[in-house]
Amino acid sequence: MQKTGKVYLIGAGPGDPDLLTVKALRYLQSAQVVIYDRLVSDEIMALIPPEAVLVPVGKAPKHHMVPQEGINELLVEHAQKAEIIVRLKGGDPFIFGRGSEEAQRLVEAGIPFEVIPGITAAQGCATSLHVPLTHRGLATGVRYVTGHCRNDVPLDLNWQSLADEDTTLVVYMGLAAIEQISRELIAHGMNPEIPVLAISKGTTKDERHVLADLRTAYQVAKQEELKAPTLFIIGEVASFTGQLQVDEHLSAVSGDAVVQVKEAAHG
Ligand SMILES: C[S@@+](CC[C@H](N)C(=O)[O-])C[C@H]1O[C@@H](n2cnc3c(N)ncnc32)[C@H](O)[C@@H]1O
Repeated sequence: MQKTGKVYLIGAGPGDPDLLTVKALRYLQSAQVVIYDRLVSDEIMALIPPEAVLVPVGKAPKHHMVPQEGINELLVEHAQKAEIIVRLKGGDPFIFGRGSEEAQRLVEAGIPFEVIPGITAAQGCATSLHVPLTHRGLATGVRYVTGHCRNDVPLDLNWQSLADEDTTLVVYMGLAAIEQISRELIAHGMNPEIPVLAISKGTTKDERHVLADLRTAYQVAKQEELKAPTLFIIGEVASFTGQLQVDEHLSAVSGDAVVQVKEAAHG
């Protein structure tokens, strides 16, 4: 039987290289081949050893540089030539990342693989902005949904079940459809004034975020010219935006504990 290498399906997180897991970094730095997506940030790409072979495979909205089937075959081909093959994806490989389809193909081809989780955009973007996706009394759960359908067929989600004000709704890939999404949620009973936080390029140096409500989310995203990748967080928890902060100057003057922490940090 032909000997094959091992494929590591790695989640790179939302963009900030400090949000990579230790395990992801370890395998990335020993990769011989890296097959990577457009969503992976430049800072993370810079962590790959210079001798590794880099294989870009996509995917700009509506432009799949390499179709999914082609990516699956590339993984198989490279596994027959190299020992450590990294398939690097933004966020988590199994959250709207098609990592599970790639894993299915590897199973079929009998190629060993491992999946290394990444921080998905919902968690990375929300938590780094101090917005909790669940909060006692405001959200009893959270749902991740796609705002984009295969081959651009119209979005057909279960609007009635999604229009639940007790659950935070995180919409991935929803920039082009946010007008329809808002309209449908309102038509199915959601309060038009429920807050919506839109985050573009979260956790990167180009991050932009804007707080609107369900009625205005579309206009605000358009006015602000938010660019992909953008994520929408719909729910009462979005009202935390900008709220959970301490004025560090005031704390340092009046709070002994903060002063001590600062002194300790400076040795
Ligand atoms: C194909 S999905 C991939 C999701 C990825 N696997 C994850 O777990 O985050 C792409 C969508 O993820 C969201 N996304 C990914 N990275 C993001 C970021 N840094 N800021 C905002 N949204 C992001 C956007 O909604 C984008 O359209």
